[in-house]
Amino acid sequence: MSKQAISLFTARRTQYALGKNLPIAESEVDALIRQAIRLAPSSFNSQSSRAVILFGAASEHLWKNITKEILRPMVPADAFASTDAKMDSFAAGAGTVLFYEDQATIQDLQQKFPLYADNFPTFSEHSAGMAQFAVWTALAEAGIGASLQHYAPLIDAEVARNWDVPASWKLRAQMPFGSNEQPFAEKTFIADEQRFKTVR
Ligand SMILES: Cc1cc2nc3c(=O)[nH]c(=O)nc-3n(C[C@H](O)[C@H](O)[C@H](O)COP(=O)(O)O)c2cc1C
Repeated sequence: MSKQAISLFTARRTQYALGKNLPIAESEVDALIRQAIRLAPSSFNSQSSRAVILFGAASEHLWKNITKEILRPMVPADAFASTDAKMDSFAAGAGTVLFYEDQATIQDLQQKFPLYADNFPTFSEHSAGMAQFAVWTALAEAGIGASLQHYAPLIDAEVARNWDVPASWKLRAQMPFGSNEQPFAEKTFIADEQRFKTVR
């Protein structure tokens, strides 16, 4: 059995301690993210995933201005310090991938394949997860750390206004990325008996 895939999956971890020292050029990171999303599978090859890739000041604006200021009135004042620090830690990275699913693509599929109409929104969510995993793993292979965040729908309108995002794109996740500034936390695993059955 080739262990290459497993070693890549092992390398993909959640990294919160991000810095700006990317090991490869921004243009290469951009190309990597695009290719990972292109190659990710989707139902009926509908390619419903979309992405807005933010670098530098744009990524900082997302976390330090947009998300932080939307959260400020929602979080109790005495608890805001940790939110503030968390937003700053995402802004400390080199960029953020915004993962979207195109709702127009889903509606098209529902019209073309009425038998599966109820399933397409779920399939789209599955495709989104696959695109996220593909990008996360590709970044890890390039030595770039990342985490997966969920601030939609709170930030959707402001993000769309800032970067002219089409109305049919629905924000599903945000992935801040950058240099790995700390070792990864230890990961624990539940017992195999709780999750697997092999039957012959
Ligand atoms: C569907 C999904 C949603 C997640 N949402 C968040 C999130 O909102 N914030 C966060 O910090 N991590 C989030 N994570 C990351 C998980 O906490 C993390 O992957 C898990 O603890 C295992 O750690 P690892 O990524 O280092 O393997 C999410 C992961 C998945 C797959």
